[in-house]
Amino acid sequence: MGWSSWNTYRVNINDSLIRKQVDAMVSSGLKDYGYEYINVDDGFFGFRDSVGKMHAHPLRFPRGMKSIADHIHSLGLKAGLYSDAGSVTCGSIWDKDPEGIGAGLYGHEFQDAELYFSDWGFDFIKIDYCGAGQELDLDEKERYSFIKSAIDSCGRDDIDINICRWAFPGTWASDIASSWRISGDITDSWPSIRKIIEKNLPLSAYCRDSHFNDMDMLEIGRSLSESEERVHFGLWCIMSSPLLIGCDLTSIPVKSLELLKNTELIAINQDSLALQAYPVQKSDGAWVLVKDIIEKRSNKRAVALYNSTDTLRRIAVALKDLELDGLVIIHDLFNHRDSVVDSDSLIRTVPPRDVLIYKVEAQRRVDPVIYEAEWAYLPMFNDLGKRRKEIRYAENNEASAGFVVANGGGQFGNSIIWQDVFSSDGGDYDLSVFYFPVENRGLEVIVNGISIDLSRSLETKGNETIITLPVKLNKGYNHVMLTCRTMWMPDIDKIQLVRR
Ligand code: GLA
Repeated sequence: MGWSSWNTYRVNINDSLIRKQVDAMVSSGLKDYGYEYINVDDGFFGFRDSVGKMHAHPLRFPRGMKSIADHIHSLGLKAGLYSDAGSVTCGSIWDKDPEGIGAGLYGHEFQDAELYFSDWGFDFIKIDYCGAGQELDLDEKERYSFIKSAIDSCGRDDIDINICRWAFPGTWASDIASSWRISGDITDSWPSIRKIIEKNLPLSAYCRDSHFNDMDMLEIGRSLSESEERVHFGLWCIMSSPLLIGCDLTSIPVKSLELLKNTELIAINQDSLALQAYPVQKSDGAWVLVKDIIEKRSNKRAVALYNSTDTLRRIAVALKDLELDGLVIIHDLFNHRDSVVDSDSLIRTVPPRDVLIYKVEAQRRVDPVIYEAEWAYLPMFNDLGKRRKEIRYAENNEASAGFVVANGGGQFGNSIIWQDVFSSDGGDYDLSVFYFPVENRGLEVIVNGISIDLSRSLETKGNETIITLPVKLNKGYNHVMLTCRTMWMPDIDKIQLVRR
């Protein structure tokens, strides 16, 4: 949580501007709500001297960057900085900032790490990819791993790294960074907010062990409407995205400031389980998302009813699909009121471009029956779009909750994994795989290491098809994997587990 200079100021930043924002972080009260980082984005670069040492921009930051970091620290805040994995920054390309040419980390990894973290004292770095992608065509994993080794060598173990590659970069990212951007740059507009949410819907499996999908800096307090701001902040909170405010902290509109200070929403963003809500239902542009909070598999959860369309939507979700049973009390995180669900479904009308977010508490938590493919972990997934045949989540309107996993199989590791398949008692179950038939596909189902090859029994034609097999689940968590070593798998919609 914090603030970043980019959304409002782009490269037009300077010493007094950043200091005013630092001071406003405290005087606005936002610091007391947990906003902690002040991130100086692109625009601070000056020049490299004869030994390659970077200097701050002499006109914009005449007192240098250490002085900025010191001021941030003196107020009990943390300091963040920006660079690029290649040799040129994005600002040098898109904002024609000449100082960004040669300012990136390429060829200066150890020197810059020493300067930024040991000498200047910054605590966080966002590492962009403009130079590395456009100019040098480097490999992402190798490039970021090398930069990480340079950062590790500067003797501090508390530096946070953000990978800014504008798409989910691959599961390797969690060895390097605590967060990674999953989309191109956010803009101060509704279509941008809607698009980023949709990109993040199938990525909950990668938000784990304190590593987060970064939905980009907030556009709250700028030009979005009140309901669009609710969607923006509410979804960033329930999806556990970093919350980096992007507006001018000295003049935040009252309503926006109130939203940014919504302690109940902040609590589900900063929840100790640090999970990302996942989609349980999609109909007509309306989504239901849910996640565990406080304690895994307890009777308390967070739920969002999100209407992404421009007309009213009646959203009805069965309580059993939220794994809840008995009396259910819901607490609205926008108006802070409680109500009771008096049927076996939660039903609400949601205005256009709006969201309702609840903390729900049920008498009983029940075992899940369905596991969507878009909740699964795909070890070989990335969204870099370099090879079209790589495993991916693909939108499919005939699939429940809106997605399938396509291009799985062909090798053992190119698999779909549900790590947390839960059974409270364990025992005999029917496991059904829902898939879309095509010719020449194979499927192996591996439950807790026991493999069953279903390739010969798969349909080759027709609509969505179900194949069922008996399995044994352990009491507690189980590991279910779909793969195929030799052939591609068909597109997978979901699995279902029913007690026999
Ligand atoms: C890229 C990033 C942005 C911002 C700019 C700076 O576009 O994605 O968030 O940091 O570079 O130039």
